[in-house]
Amino acid sequence: MNKNGIIIAVTGKGGVGKTSLSAAIVRQLIEKYPEKKILAIDADPAIGLATALGVEVELTIDNIRQSFVKAAESGNTKQAIEMLSEARYQIMDAVVEKDGFSFLAIGRPESSGCYCKVNAYLKEVISILSENFDYVVIDGEAGIEQVNRRVMEKVTHLLLVSDGSQKGIGVIKTIHQVAKELTMYQRAGVILNRLSFKGMTTEFDLDDLELLAKIGNDDQLLDNDMLGDSVFELADSANIIIGAKEALEKLDVI
Ligand SMILES: Nc1ncnc2c1ncn2[C@@H]1O[C@H](COP(=O)(O)OP(=O)(O)OP(=O)(O)O)[C@@H](O)[C@H]1O
Ligand SMILES: [Mg+2]
Repeated sequence: MNKNGIIIAVTGKGGVGKTSLSAAIVRQLIEKYPEKKILAIDADPAIGLATALGVEVELTIDNIRQSFVKAAESGNTKQAIEMLSEARYQIMDAVVEKDGFSFLAIGRPESSGCYCKVNAYLKEVISILSENFDYVVIDGEAGIEQVNRRVMEKVTHLLLVSDGSQKGIGVIKTIHQVAKELTMYQRAGVILNRLSFKGMTTEFDLDDLELLAKIGNDDQLLDNDMLGDSVFELADSANIIIGAKEALEKLDVI
């Protein structure tokens, strides 16, 4: 068991390419480390990473959490306690085994209730599972919430993704500030994605943050998304694949 695994979180504003990059990162890790244990966590309730990695999701973390809640609410304390002690096995039931990697989705609470409960649960799940995997890649929900709620506490490598917009860059700077306080990250860096031709040669003000990669518009990725294909169907020459590789190399992960 490896207690010092690498936990990579992919964060940023909505629609900047977090899911596409998370999938590309998982692909790079599989190619570089076929013998290592790699886990992809879809921490976005919209479950986009599953599609990007070609995974069918049957059971989510929220499904498991709800079964605890139901047992506790029905007053069956004994059952609730037994279930808690079995949590580790139950979580493993929700982990889908694929070729070269494993996958887990957070899911979406059915009721309109507070999403923070499943986030609190996710934090524990990350903590438990990171002991069993060498590499964990977390595709985060858009925005700052999961960093704020300490879901990302155990993250070792923080990837801040933005497009070329001031808004997107503002969001990653905020995430970075909060992450300094609320996470244990060792390395952080920026990936600028979906840049226009002009954006590729523009210097962006990123304060003290390290720029890991600049990725231009990727037509291959757009076609791939349109067809609902997974990241494994992209050519090695796709911008997003090259960008993910560059970023991981700069972070000394691959
Ligand atoms: N470099 C790129 N070039 C062209 N299109 C891209 C690029 N990166 C991402 N996209 C496209 O942009 C859309 C959003 O990408 P993606 O789903 O990866 O973003 P996200 O940050 O995960 O979004 P959300 O916040 O909704 O989860 C997708 O259709 C994707 O194909
Ligand atoms: Mg996404």
